[in-house]
Amino acid sequence: MSVEEHRKIAKEKMKGKCGVFSMCDGAPNKICQGNSYGKPIGFGGVGSGASFVNNVEALKKLNLKMRVIGENYSPNTKYNFFGHELTMPIMGASVTGVNSFGGDNAITEPEFCKATVLGAKEAGTLGWRGDTYSYDWDFMPCYDAICNMAGGWGVKISKPRDQETLKKVFKMYEEGGAIAVGTDVDGCGSTIMATHNKPVFRKSVDDLKELVNSTKLPFIVKGIMCAEDALAAAEAGVSAVVVSNHGGRVLDHTVGTADALFEVVDAVKGEVTIIADGGVRTGYDVLKMLAIGADSVLFGRDIVRAAVGGGAEGVKAFFEMQQKTLVKAMRMTGVSSLEEITRAVIYK
Ligand SMILES: Cc1cc2nc3c(=O)[nH]c(=O)nc-3n(C[C@H](O)[C@H](O)[C@H](O)COP(=O)(O)O)c2cc1C
Repeated sequence: MSVEEHRKIAKEKMKGKCGVFSMCDGAPNKICQGNSYGKPIGFGGVGSGASFVNNVEALKKLNLKMRVIGENYSPNTKYNFFGHELTMPIMGASVTGVNSFGGDNAITEPEFCKATVLGAKEAGTLGWRGDTYSYDWDFMPCYDAICNMAGGWGVKISKPRDQETLKKVFKMYEEGGAIAVGTDVDGCGSTIMATHNKPVFRKSVDDLKELVNSTKLPFIVKGIMCAEDALAAAEAGVSAVVVSNHGGRVLDHTVGTADALFEVVDAVKGEVTIIADGGVRTGYDVLKMLAIGADSVLFGRDIVRAAVGGGAEGVKAFFEMQQKTLVKAMRMTGVSSLEEITRAVIYK
């Protein structure tokens, strides 16, 4: 089945939560955004949805510089992620909590974890898994998917819970053979955790240092939106930062992530790996993020639609389509490898 066919199925299954529109932009007239006023956040952005909208707008205002005269070549999208070769610099974001996008009628939490992790693996890339209020020591579908089903081939991002819990979780994943672990520091603003009385905390540089030192795995901090936080994360010794505002779900009225990415790249490029997400919908958007200076990107809501519509097969087909688009975008802008991509590829 094609990506379009998977999306048609997702549209049925996600009725009332996501309209699977051709443009997923958080606009006020979209189903997901209508859910957020005084109701659970659903699949949309927090509050007015401005942060979600700004993510898409920030990418939209960047244009690509077409450059087609020169040697013929097939662009290479291979990406080295902490010593592991991926087919593309594109991974699946740590989206969790199926109740936000349709619950068991759409897909169960264990099925969702399995589809995102195995689908990514089959496409030669990595599925990240997150953390939500319903996860507990006796309910760990992410662990099952990454460590039991995929032989460790995945990344675990835990909410900024208390330090002892986090250290225990990271140790488990390390022993289960996972590729990397980390925490979404912006999860301290999670409305879903707050609604379910699950405590989450702001993390200090010392807290992050303690977590970095608690594991042998590369440690990732997700939810960085300014140079100051990027420098603080680097000071803590993290291996990677993810420039992200949680898909616009934790603080209303932030700038778009592509806008924030410029100052993060200028502050820490070369020192830590830089990953970006938010509003990335196509291989063209991927190229824009890489041109600003990201090393790789994550797709969030689109991976959900692919998993709901087609399970692991849907996720695999989705990644493969984006990789093809990235190849085309690179060929048409005169770059043959990821290393050749610079800001010269975009007009601001
Ligand atoms: C329903 C939903 C649940 C999410 N859950 C998590 C989570 O548990 N942990 C996390 O780090 N990020 C979570 N995110 C944020 C994503 O990882 C990612 O940053 C975001 O979706 C990227 O934006 P995009 O959806 O526009 O691609 C969630 C996003 C959505 C839409």
